Amino acid sequence: SLLEETSLPLYFGWFLLSSVQVKVGCTAMDFLKTLDTLEAFKKHIADFTGQAENEVDLEQYFETKETLHCTTKFCNYGKADGAKEYAKNPVVKKSYGSVFSLSLTTLFVTPRTVGARVSLTEEQLQLWPADTEKESEEGIPGSASLPVGSRAHITLGCAAGVEPVQTGLDLLQILTLPEGEAVEEMELGSLRYYGEGRWMLSLREPICAAACFSSFYG
Ligand code: A2P
Repeated sequence: SLLEETSLPLYFGWFLLSSVQVKVGCTAMDFLKTLDTLEAFKKHIADFTGQAENEVDLEQYFETKETLHCTTKFCNYGKADGAKEYAKNPVVKKSYGSVFSLSLTTLFVTPRTVGARVSLTEEQLQLWPADTEKESEEGIPGSASLPVGSRAHITLGCAAGVEPVQTGLDLLQILTLPEGEAVEEMELGSLRYYGEGRWMLSLREPICAAACFSSFYG
């Protein structure tokens, strides 16, 4: 029936509680503000600006997101593969509305997106569809061999014209590369460069973020 077809959400995920959204948003802004002043970043600035300019304000470059969340299953109102099965999963039903503690271990930036990597616990992995990383193998060779849950992230911002789905793909792509060149010890952690405008900051202290498992209809 029409009701059944429309009763599935756009996506399921963990939604950061509002006080945590502010904390994560501010940490990301601090990182972007510092990153674009580093000599190491300026050396590779053409990754972001092309040849035309030798400066970029990353805070302006990215359109930051509201309703920060970590998508577990993109359902597209039931049209996505496996959406119905996911919604019926007893663990999903049981967990719906519960608050979890997410561990944000890494911030990453590319010319397209900025995001935070989420390191899932065994319990949290039960809400993670097992085939997520395999689905991107065609576009990102090697992603199917990454550990389950590798794609888990929070989209913090996207460059103009870039869809948020890109953030997870950017993360997977970085994770398939050999470890990047260590370029700088920052207050927040150590910064590595992965080529083609891809930067990753391992947080000295992971951010512990309270988040409610729920869904978004839009
Ligand atoms: P992400 O989880 O990386 O932030 P949109 O506004 O484009 O419809 O996306 C809504 C949410 O669903 C976003 O959080 C987005 O990306 C995620 N998303 C969109 N498309 C996909 C997809 N094909 N696979 C996985 N996640 C998706």
